[in-house]
Amino acid sequence: QNTQKGSLPKQRLLVVANRLPVRAKRMGEDSWSLEVSVGGLVSALLGIDKIEARWIGWAGVDVPDETGKRSLTNALAEKRCIPVFLDEETVHQYYNGYCNNILWPLFHYLGLPQENHLATTHSFQSQFDAYKRVNQMFADVVNEHYEDGDVVWCHDYHLMFLPQCLKEHNSEMKVGWFLHTPFPSSEIHRILPSRSELLKSVLAADIVGFHTYDYARHFVSACSRILGLEGTPHGVEDQGRITRVAAFPIGIDSNRFIKALELEKVRNKIKELQERFSDRKIILGVDRLDTIKGIPQKILAFEKFLEENPSWHNKVVLIQIAVPTRTDVHEYRKLTSQVHEIVGRINGKFGTLTEVPIHHLDTQLDFHTLCALYAVTDVALVASLRDGMNLVSYEYVACQASKKGVLILSEFAGAAQSLGSGAILVNPWNINEVSTSIYYALNMPDDEREKRHHHNFKHVITHTSQEWAENFLSEFNVTVNQAQMRTKQ
Ligand code: G6P
Repeated sequence: QNTQKGSLPKQRLLVVANRLPVRAKRMGEDSWSLEVSVGGLVSALLGIDKIEARWIGWAGVDVPDETGKRSLTNALAEKRCIPVFLDEETVHQYYNGYCNNILWPLFHYLGLPQENHLATTHSFQSQFDAYKRVNQMFADVVNEHYEDGDVVWCHDYHLMFLPQCLKEHNSEMKVGWFLHTPFPSSEIHRILPSRSELLKSVLAADIVGFHTYDYARHFVSACSRILGLEGTPHGVEDQGRITRVAAFPIGIDSNRFIKALELEKVRNKIKELQERFSDRKIILGVDRLDTIKGIPQKILAFEKFLEENPSWHNKVVLIQIAVPTRTDVHEYRKLTSQVHEIVGRINGKFGTLTEVPIHHLDTQLDFHTLCALYAVTDVALVASLRDGMNLVSYEYVACQASKKGVLILSEFAGAAQSLGSGAILVNPWNINEVSTSIYYALNMPDDEREKRHHHNFKHVITHTSQEWAENFLSEFNVTVNQAQMRTKQ
């Protein structure tokens, strides 16, 4: 029987992702403090009553002793989380190495890093081996906790080997895989020495999901060009077995943001920010400090804008929140110093005794301060060089019901396909274009601003994270049921 959207059967779901939605900090030999992080996935699944989700993922901390492992496992069980323990060297090879130094840049069209070129194939190979080993460790934990009828939903580029590991152990297991990054053109994917193995493993899943139609199309053409398999309108066919491939664009829990704006502490924060910047327009960037986010390009475009528009000096400020991330990876450390150098130079050039044009913060703001900042911002600037979706653009729109600010959005973010007609789309590499767009955004007539905002707001409040999860899981059920019917015939 087919499952229609909105009529999901009662199901137990095992969500498998590199990271658990909980940050663990050791407080004593067997005591832990756990902080739940309410990402898109958590809020999406919380909203679906029929789904009983359990989470499997890396604990995020090194726990070398058995007492620690046992106590953390028990503490996490209360949050329905099951840890996978990885030692430091494995994290270095798998997470810093293969995931974040190889797959991440390649999937975002940044190529393979120089340190991993032919002269160091040895390190490439050992990182790839660690990646496969870790994926098998995740599979072992899934197998241990799996019960008949469970649905297993694997997430992201860290776990491309997982579908195959799971199906080899139990071919009846219902396995879905979703990629949160772009899937690059097959011409880029084919650079990877392990290109075929990764594709074959992902194809072991019953359903494979992407944020945009283009990523899904790239995946299907990689399978046809690299593996010689046939792409069908529904997915990829290999010897009569079809892997469903489709686009499911994610959203946010927009209500959480909209409701936060009504809280007294957020309203006070809004007032405080408005007073502090009463004589200035605010341009805002919120990004993880990642090579893909185009932070240097964004800041250079702002410099160009200041150079070309002296009348705006001291009347506009760029607030850039740069959340530190993956700080053990060389490219990320290099980026941090590069950004600091550019910001210092520009502030030195355009600053006064009392004011600077760029407020750059290497930090993560708490949720309420972030909402307040979104609400007071005149222009949000997202300059990603590539981005799977970019939910900062959604969060900004959700918080702009009263101000109706302008979103300048990179055409290389997945979100450009959904918010494109409300936002000003730019090529972040074109500093002139971004600078002109900043000028246009700051001077945009009210009626145009309102029209653009209205368009995006409608999209953000209707295409939520919950709707995304329901769409994926419904299609997952339909796919599995159809496959079962085919085998019976
Ligand atoms: C991206 C990835 C996620 C990842 C997040 C934060 O959004 O798609 O899988 O969790 O970045 O990166 P981190 O390496 O800190 O988990």
